Amino acid sequence: MVLSKRSSIIFIIFCFSLLQNATIGSSKSPKTKNLSFHDFKEVRDATSFKFTNFSSIDGGALQLTPDNENQPLGYFNKSGRIMYYKPYKLWRSETDRDIASFNTTFVMNIYRNRTWNPGEGFAFLIAPEFDVPEESHGRWLGLTNASTDGNPENRLVAVEFDTEKQEFDPDDNHIGLNINSVRSKTTVSLDRFGFLISPETGTDYRVWIQYNGKSKVMEVYMANRSDERPKQPFLNETINLKDHVKQSSYFGFAASTGNPGIQFNCVLEWELQVEDFSGKKDGKWWRIALGVGVSVMVLLALCGVKFGVACVKKRRDLDEDSNVLGALKRLPGMPREFRYKDLKKATNDFHQNMVLGQGGFGVVYRGILRDWDGRSTSSALRTNEIAVKKFSRDDIKGKDDFLAELTIIHRLRHKHLVRLVGWCYEKGKLLLVYDYMPNGSLEKHLYESSNTLNWRHRHKILAGVASALHYLHNDYDQKVVHRDLKASNILLDSDYNARLGDFGLARAIENERTSYAELGLAGVPGTMGYVAPECFHTGKATPESDVFGFGAVVLEVVCGRSPGVKIQHEEHQFTLVDWVWMLHREGRILEAVDERLKNEYVVEEANRLLLLGLACSHPVASERPQTQAICLIIAETLPSPHVPPFKPVFTWPNLGLGVAFSSIESDYSNITLSS
Ligand SMILES: *[C@@H]1O[C@H](CO)[C@@H](O)[C@H](O)[C@H]1NC(C)=O
Ligand SMILES: *[C@@H]1O[C@H](CO)[C@@H](O)[C@H](O)[C@H]1NC(C)=O
Ligand SMILES: *[C@@H]1O[C@H](CO)[C@@H](O)[C@H](O)[C@H]1NC(C)=O
Ligand SMILES: *[C@@H]1O[C@H](CO)[C@@H](O)[C@H](O)[C@H]1NC(C)=O
Ligand SMILES: *[C@@H]1O[C@H](CO)[C@@H](O)[C@H](O)[C@H]1NC(C)=O
Ligand SMILES: *[C@@H]1O[C@H](CO)[C@@H](O)[C@H](O)[C@H]1NC(C)=O
Ligand SMILES: *[C@@H]1O[C@H](CO)[C@@H](O)[C@H](O)[C@H]1NC(C)=O
Ligand SMILES: *[C@@H]1O[C@H](CO)[C@@H](O)[C@H](O)[C@H]1NC(C)=O
Ligand SMILES: *[C@@H]1O[C@H](CO)[C@@H](O)[C@H](O)[C@H]1NC(C)=O
Ligand SMILES: *[C@@H]1O[C@H](CO)[C@@H](O)[C@H](O)[C@H]1NC(C)=O
Repeated sequence: MVLSKRSSIIFIIFCFSLLQNATIGSSKSPKTKNLSFHDFKEVRDATSFKFTNFSSIDGGALQLTPDNENQPLGYFNKSGRIMYYKPYKLWRSETDRDIASFNTTFVMNIYRNRTWNPGEGFAFLIAPEFDVPEESHGRWLGLTNASTDGNPENRLVAVEFDTEKQEFDPDDNHIGLNINSVRSKTTVSLDRFGFLISPETGTDYRVWIQYNGKSKVMEVYMANRSDERPKQPFLNETINLKDHVKQSSYFGFAASTGNPGIQFNCVLEWELQVEDFSGKKDGKWWRIALGVGVSVMVLLALCGVKFGVACVKKRRDLDEDSNVLGALKRLPGMPREFRYKDLKKATNDFHQNMVLGQGGFGVVYRGILRDWDGRSTSSALRTNEIAVKKFSRDDIKGKDDFLAELTIIHRLRHKHLVRLVGWCYEKGKLLLVYDYMPNGSLEKHLYESSNTLNWRHRHKILAGVASALHYLHNDYDQKVVHRDLKASNILLDSDYNARLGDFGLARAIENERTSYAELGLAGVPGTMGYVAPECFHTGKATPESDVFGFGAVVLEVVCGRSPGVKIQHEEHQFTLVDWVWMLHREGRILEAVDERLKNEYVVEEANRLLLLGLACSHPVASERPQTQAICLIIAETLPSPHVPPFKPVFTWPNLGLGVAFSSIESDYSNITLSS
């Protein structure tokens, strides 16, 4: 590997000569830069684009505005942009007449639910910057706002696909050429071409926009996704881009939703060819880079054998990690990266005294960030206390698995989920940093606190957990299961709001490897009562098994008893579920309510929650209520569930005989974990 000085110099001269040729060539007839995305992947493509607050890559598409109904900030009145991260130089100099020609083709899908009015619009955009103006939702299409609309300083040109009629629009289904304003220079109604931008079911359209830098003509075509480009353009307009946009401009998309008009604004494919007018500058840049390269190589050659070998080894280690690292850094809106050194210090060298708990795949420590540089305190951390989850190395099955997981977690935002603040991946060690919840877990409040949790707080906590679970299970394209729902994973804030934590092991449901064996359940007996019976057979977590876990939490909170601890009643030992079920059968279910409440509770609510807890504990997974019904039952919008007097038998395989009833002795808790 040791390069001789001579051979490296020869190599460099060779590079130089190649480069010289290339530069001379490009100044004669401009080359074309070609971007091509046939789908979009969150991790792979995140660095290629600049995203604004409400835009993302999701479901294989660019999502200009929120793409699901579970957004904590809603999806009304939103605007967003996604721009290619590098600007294009569109002309060489002010005196040169030529402007870069470009062609672009993209597939768009403006989806709306049948029950929504579509709104407001979507646009292909050439702009001097990638930020979306404030208050640019609704009619402003993420292009301008009430104070900037029409201002020549905007320096933007866009082709709009408008789905909401304003007083200056011809209708609610048109394309338009916009220059610095949402009041289009030219509009063409799509009705006469037989296209509806936002049909009830959402349709993929392919759009071609071509600009000829010599004739200055811009043309817009549209067709069904799989069809050929039509012969005649839908819109044809002469426009000298040099009069409007900046020499260095970004290409991308903008869109908005309004109120009540809402739609999902998606781009499924994108190709862009722009004539490359950056030739000269590029040449210089490369020469500088090469200059640096020369010094580096000479230096390397002079390093000698030993140092050289050390360098190579180190490099190899870095390469192995750089994929994960790079992918993490590219996640849009990804929280900050921490240095291992700082986390180690914060947790007192991962000291035993700082352990907050043991979750799946690792241990959670409390951390205090000292010497905090405060760079991003405003957005990420309110205090300098954090919770650090340290994954044990052997537990990480593969980096791909982990990455897949993290792309899911970082996207989950809900007021009843503990927030992921940051991450660290160094020297093969992986750590996740969460908001520290100073008031501890529900488990602690139920059993260790001197003050008994009052009824109002218990009720509020359960409602919060239910809504978090509903959010996880109904995330737009990937259902997420929590897998480890239990009182010690439910954290409380100072106002007794529940925050579901440790969903670090939440996996997309498709993942076959989701296994309880991985959790090492045997070592965590406390988890026993929370695990659904079918899980011992399938080893797989499902939304239904999460609901089972939720049922256990409901009974635990109302009764103040741990589901893992047997209850002695007369001659028999009961599990918590069986005990409550027995009381239900005998018409005295309220006797199950925590005695420490001293009868200070709402009878109707307690009755309702206990029945809900039993319904969720149904041995047959398909008989358990879903999270939506659970939320409605807690909110008293739906009546309490009907619960049979005897607990149905758990059958495996499930023969659909969930209606058979058994005596109270029926108890699946004898099934051992090894089965
Ligand atoms: C641009 O690149 C894509 C993929 O590499 C290719 O399919 C397409 O033909 C290219 N387009 C042009 C005009 O070169
Ligand atoms: C949306 O914005 C409009 C005006 O821009 C306002 O009248 C309306 O109240 C907003 N609606 C919501 C849900 O924010
Ligand atoms: C755009 O497409 C046309 C043909 O439709 C072609 O003549 C032209 O060279 C293309 N321009 C660029 C910049 O790719
Ligand atoms: C449409 O939206 C309504 C209300 O938001 C919702 O109840 C319904 O399930 C949605 N339908 C579809 C097909 O998404
Ligand atoms: C319009 O956007 C600009 C830039 O984001 C902002 O400074 C201005 O306050 C916004 N105007 C309104 C009315 O929101
Ligand atoms: C985006 O979010 C940041 C932080 O929440 C906020 O300061 C900023 O105003 C937002 N930008 C827009 C355009 O809404
Ligand atoms: C586009 O596709 C839809 C449904 O597949 C069809 O009804 C419509 O006629 C097509 N439009 C054109 C212009 O081919
Ligand atoms: C576009 O318009 C120009 C002049 O307005 C015309 O010469 C040209 O033929 C038109 N192109 C098409 C494809 O209709
Ligand atoms: C949370 O902690 C704060 C300070 O440690 C304390 O004042 C407050 O009473 C606690 N609240 C709960 C719900 O435990
Ligand atoms: C469960 O185990 C206990 C003791 O090991 C035994 O007495 C009981 O009969 C078992 N129950 C069932 C349903 O097998």
